[in-house]
Amino acid sequence: MTRTYVVTGSASGIGAVTAAKLRDRGDRVIGLDLHDAEVEADLSTPAGRAEAVSLVGELVDGPLDAVIASAGVAVPNALCPKVNYFGVTDFLVPLLPSLAESPAPRVVIVSSMASFQPVNAELVDAMLAGDEPRAVAIGDALADDPAAGFLNYTSSKRAISRWIRRESITADWAGAGIALNAVAPGIVVTPMTADLLATAESTAAVDAVVPMPLNYHQSPESVASLLIWLTDVDNTHTTGQTIYCDGGADAALRGDDIWSWNDPA
Ligand code: NAI
Repeated sequence: MTRTYVVTGSASGIGAVTAAKLRDRGDRVIGLDLHDAEVEADLSTPAGRAEAVSLVGELVDGPLDAVIASAGVAVPNALCPKVNYFGVTDFLVPLLPSLAESPAPRVVIVSSMASFQPVNAELVDAMLAGDEPRAVAIGDALADDPAAGFLNYTSSKRAISRWIRRESITADWAGAGIALNAVAPGIVVTPMTADLLATAESTAAVDAVVPMPLNYHQSPESVASLLIWLTDVDNTHTTGQTIYCDGGADAALRGDDIWSWNDPA
């Protein structure tokens, strides 16, 4: 059965590979990006998101079966909360009625192993409260301090993974049969990481904080297959999850006990 997908970030990296794989197997893909896409729109602004929703609505023409949200930035400033959080949530929510018309609606977002790195708690809270002006003000202030700027990225990924857990089980999502998950990669070789991996020194610095004992740095294809399964008809019961597809970085860094949170003291 041919399904209709929207893939954001379709012009590069993980989004481009995922869109190509879907097209190869016969699915219909509406790519969305700043450039070189069926829908060219800027997810960093409220006006750009509204335009994106409207253009997608015009092109879908029927039920929308799945969204794969890969568009993102890794910069030490408030563009991260704008694109990686609000550019996802404020784009997806208006698409819910169209998704609910599909017999098997699925959404998956590209989060990151950075979601369990240190964050700025106030920034995470502002995003989860849906307060974009406050999030941007906090993000801008962090950007003034070179040591704190990257908390914009980690906080945006923590917040989006928490939003998924919170929203996935509500009437709007689970109640409408819509699975909502994230995939969290380690270091993927794409234009986003080209500068990080440009020298032996910078690569060693990355590897010190992102250990990947299984097969080391990964290809966009390694992420695309999981994104596609999570948005497939076969995924009837996985929801609310951030699945770490990261060469073992999560297990290496968080250790063997992520379950004791509810044990008796
Ligand atoms: P990429 O830089 O190759 O592709 C990102 C795409 O998003 C680009 O085509 C870009 O134009 C688009 N985009 C950026 N801002 C946008 C906006 N305002 N509106 C619309 N489109 C916009 O990066 P990559 O590696 O494919 O990253 C995809 C996702 O994976 C991102 O969310 C990133 O945070 C995440 N990720 C990447 C990792 C990596 O090592 N490359 C690791 C973990 C997560």
